[in-house]
Amino acid sequence: MCGIFGAVTRKGDVTPAILAGLALLEYRGYDSAGVAVFTERGVEKRRRVGKLEVLREALHREGFGGPALIGVGHTRWATHGGVTEENAHPHSDSSGDLVLVHNGIIENYLDLKRELAAKGHIFRSATDSEVLAHAIEEQLARMEAPAKESGTKTAGDETALERAVRATMREARGTYAIVVLHRRFPDRILVARQDSPVVIGIGPDVHGNPASFVASDVPALLAHTRKVYYLRDGEVATLTADRVTVRRLDGELVPFAPLEIRWDAAAADRRGYPHYMLKEIEEQPDAVAQTSFDRLDDDRGDVRFEDFALGDERLRAIRRVQIVACGTSLHAGLVGKFYLEHLAGLPTECDYASEFRYRSPIPSGDVLAVGISQSGETMDTLKALGEARTRGASVLGICNVRGSSIPRMSDAVLYTHAGPEIGVASTKAFTCQLVALYLLAVRLGRARGHLSQEQGREAIRALRVLRPRLDPLFSDDARENVHRIAKRFAGARDFLFLGRGINYPIALEGALKLKEISYIHAEGYPAGEMKHGPIAMIDATLPVVVIATQGRDREKTLNQLEQVKARGGQVILVANPGDPEAERLADEVIEVPATTDELAPIVNVIPLQRLAYEIAVMRGLSPDSPRNLAKSVTVE
Ligand code: AGP
Repeated sequence: MCGIFGAVTRKGDVTPAILAGLALLEYRGYDSAGVAVFTERGVEKRRRVGKLEVLREALHREGFGGPALIGVGHTRWATHGGVTEENAHPHSDSSGDLVLVHNGIIENYLDLKRELAAKGHIFRSATDSEVLAHAIEEQLARMEAPAKESGTKTAGDETALERAVRATMREARGTYAIVVLHRRFPDRILVARQDSPVVIGIGPDVHGNPASFVASDVPALLAHTRKVYYLRDGEVATLTADRVTVRRLDGELVPFAPLEIRWDAAAADRRGYPHYMLKEIEEQPDAVAQTSFDRLDDDRGDVRFEDFALGDERLRAIRRVQIVACGTSLHAGLVGKFYLEHLAGLPTECDYASEFRYRSPIPSGDVLAVGISQSGETMDTLKALGEARTRGASVLGICNVRGSSIPRMSDAVLYTHAGPEIGVASTKAFTCQLVALYLLAVRLGRARGHLSQEQGREAIRALRVLRPRLDPLFSDDARENVHRIAKRFAGARDFLFLGRGINYPIALEGALKLKEISYIHAEGYPAGEMKHGPIAMIDATLPVVVIATQGRDREKTLNQLEQVKARGGQVILVANPGDPEAERLADEVIEVPATTDELAPIVNVIPLQRLAYEIAVMRGLSPDSPRNLAKSVTVE
């Protein structure tokens, strides 16, 4: 939702590191940005509405009054309060000595604000976050009342600031990752977390200097250190240049066990592509292979998952699967329902995570709740999984981001090895989710005896040969064809996407991709449902994308296509090469390689992602950072 980066060191200037860190986190929010540092002049703060670049230019023109050994920055995605400079972070207390950045939502902020206002606090913003700055100020005054603190203490020692932050956060209700700095305690950064991601980077930095860092996501830390600590819910950390101390909200010390990050920061780079989204579309053959190949046991016709906590006995006890997810991940779940029913013989439901919690799901201990999430931080999915667990289900997370919140709360985890996905529109994470669900279904099918060894082998063989089958989608001809079709329809006002069966979720995904990055109104529909309503929209101005590749549903889908044609609709047909109907029925054809019915969605979605990308670029839009969206949605 928002991006946070903070640093404390004993040498140099943290401002450039903060700006560089924020740049890597801008995908989390980009409607305003701000930085606060302590220099010889005292607390200095700059905030600007707009992308980070606007702030960077402002700092270039009117920089800080010297180098800073400590500071924090923030990129915002507005929740409470409009997009204004006053609402941008960092926020300050009444004295201006304390600065705070926050990611999340404080649910009881109005109550806290009322109490603080009654004590004379004046608020400059409409945010829930500013309230925390004032609440800590109030607590600090209370802690210091009996014996005035002198300010700085030996690094790592408890000060009144730690106690004030803990006392405040015990009273706050909601979700947060906060970072707090105080001019009278200039050697330390305080960090607290509840349900919002935040990672601590532990020094020395790559130059050997004592330093500590805090960020919303690991890639922002990798230029400085590979030693990290994922702060957990209910923990508060004190970072000085030489040391990190973690306590629980009640003050109890937490044993500190940092991790070593092995993946490369360069993997998160654009590698010469004009946009991350295009790079990520093109990376899909590799990503699909990385997610599957090491896990395939060709001989046994089975799948092996690394560190998988659900053994055969547990898998055999499952009677039902409940998938919860949001957006693109939900569409993966809808395909997964087909996999699990067909390959594992398990009744499967798939719900919007945001709806699941509010529909009285039937409690049962033999349910496997599967949460699908690229980021692993989507609040709706986290909460839905929490609800499923309360009702007795075992929880399996399918995630792309290692160590994120969903994997950490799950009984078992299946990682998609898509690599960092930076473009806000999910592409490679989606195809890898489909692969992970397919693997899960094979594993369950084999463990439960629903699939014979031979059937398992067949399913695995199909996946093994998928990678070279994807090649034609990345040929110059295929790229040019989609480019030409995009040009023809870039000016359309609406789009309709139709698919049947396992390709219906792909129609939904094609429509979502187009909507979110090109802002064209698009709907995905089950092809058979078209005659019950959307058919009324069809005329010569409406492009209709029809997915009708080989398989059980092809003929029926083509019948629906005839109905579109008869009403003058413009048909873009996704079909396998040599389809005899393509010429006759379609205005444009997107050829996709043939594969099995189950794996066809992985193939069919790729040109639809490219179509959305091309149209967005032709409309002069930035596909990597569409308006109003954020890469990970950590609020309900
Ligand atoms: C995808 O293109 C979207 N931007 C969005 O729907 C996304 O899939 C959704 O917010 C879920 O995110 P997650 O996979 O990180 O949980």
